[in-house]
Amino acid sequence: MFTKRTVRDYDVEGKKILVCVDYNVPFDSEGNIADDSRIHASIDTLRYLLDRGCKLILMSHLGRPKSRGDANTSLLPVRDRLADILGIDVWFAEDCIGEKVKTLSEHLESGHVLLLENVRYHQEEEKNSEDFCRKIVEDTGAELYVQECFGTAHRAHASTYGVPKLLPSVAGFLVEKEVATITRAMDQPERPLLVIVGGAKISDKIEILHKFIDIADAVAVVGAMANTFLAAQGLAVGGSLYEQDEIETARDIMEKAREKSITQPFTFFLPKDVVVASDVSNEASTRIVDLTHHNWADISAYPKRPDQTSFEVQADEKILDIGPFSAAYIAGIASQAKMAIWNGTAGVTEVKGLAGAADPFSHGTRIIVDGLVGERGDEANHPFTIVGGGDTVSYVESVAGLRERFGHVSTGGGASLDLMSGKDLPGVSVLWDKNHD
Ligand code: 3PG
Repeated sequence: MFTKRTVRDYDVEGKKILVCVDYNVPFDSEGNIADDSRIHASIDTLRYLLDRGCKLILMSHLGRPKSRGDANTSLLPVRDRLADILGIDVWFAEDCIGEKVKTLSEHLESGHVLLLENVRYHQEEEKNSEDFCRKIVEDTGAELYVQECFGTAHRAHASTYGVPKLLPSVAGFLVEKEVATITRAMDQPERPLLVIVGGAKISDKIEILHKFIDIADAVAVVGAMANTFLAAQGLAVGGSLYEQDEIETARDIMEKAREKSITQPFTFFLPKDVVVASDVSNEASTRIVDLTHHNWADISAYPKRPDQTSFEVQADEKILDIGPFSAAYIAGIASQAKMAIWNGTAGVTEVKGLAGAADPFSHGTRIIVDGLVGERGDEANHPFTIVGGGDTVSYVESVAGLRERFGHVSTGGGASLDLMSGKDLPGVSVLWDKNHD
C-alpha cells in the first residue's frame, strides 16, 4: 500500500506547482534523445494537473555535468520533446534559480508549463544546500511540490529532498505506481517468484542478491555478474569482465543459496553454457562453450567426444552471452512462475547485428524474454514481470511492442534496487503521509 499523499489527496486546483521529474534521458551519437520513455512516464500526472488549471514548473537533472556546457546535459531538447507530447508550448528557463525564473514563473498562467534548466549545473543541488532550496522555492513562487522523479528518489539532493521539506509535498502517479508495485512484489510476491539478475558488478548488487535469495523461489544470475560466480567455481573465464576481488563474496552467496536449497525447494541457477567471442563486435566469430561438458556435441567431431578445449573459455575469449541451454532453462522456470523480477540482460545486447543479421549477443536475453511473456507454454499464465535497470529497460524499449507485454517496466535503476533492498528512498519518505494534518 502507498502511504503518502498523492495529487489526488490535495486541492491542486489552479495552484502553482513545482514538479520534480526525472528527465535524465539518453542521447544518441547525433545528440538526439534516444529514449523518451521517462518523459512519457510523467505525462499522466502533468495532464491531471493541467486539466485542473495548474501552473506547472518542472525541474530535473540530466547526466552528471562537471560544468554548464557539458555535452548532452542541457534540458532544452527535452523541452521540445515534451512540447510535442503535450501538444502545447513549453517555456524554458536557462537556469533553475534567478531573475529569469522569477519573471517567467510570475507570468505563468493556468495550463502553462515552464521547464527549468538542469539543476545539476549548481553544485548546491547534490549538496542539498538549504539556501539553494530556498531560492528555488522563492524564485518559482511554488505553492506545492509534486514528486514525480522516481528514478532519482534514492538521492537526498536539493530537488528531491531539500525542496519538498519546504513545501506541502505529495507524490505524482508515477511515484505512487512504482513504489506500490515494487513494494507489493517484495512484501507479498505471488509464487513461484523468479528473479533474474545481471549487470556488470556483484559489488553493486550484494545486498539485493542476499534479499533475492531470501524471498525468491528461483534466482538466475546472468550477464557479466555471472562471470565472477563462474570464476568462483574454478572455471576459466578467459578475458571476460569479472571481479577478482569479489570471488569470496560470490562463494558466500553460493553457499547461502545452497543452504536454502537443502531446507526448501529453491533454485539458484548459474549459466551452464556461454557464448564467447574474441571481441565485443558483430564481426567476431562466436562459439558456444558447454561448461558442463555434456550438453553439446561438436558437430564436426560427432559422435566422438569433442576436444577438451571446446569445454573451456580460452584466454583470448570473452563471455558475451549465456548459451541456449541456460537461456532455455531460465525461460522454462519463467513459464512456471507467477511473478518475476528481471534486472540485467543476459548478454551484451547493445551490440547490433550486421545489416539484416540478428544481434549476436542478444539471443540469451531474447529466449528468456519469450519465457517471461508467455511464448513458451501458456500465454495466458505468464508471470507478472517487473523489469528494472538501465540496460534491461533500454533492451525492452528497443524491441517494438515488447514493453506492453510486461507487468511493470520501472523508470528507476538504482532507485528500484534500493527500494527492493528495503532501503528508505529519501525522495519518497520526505513526502506528506496520507494522514498529515
Ligand atoms: C538514473 O538514471 O538512474 C537516475 O536519473 C539517477 O541518476 P544519477 O545516478 O546520476 O543520480
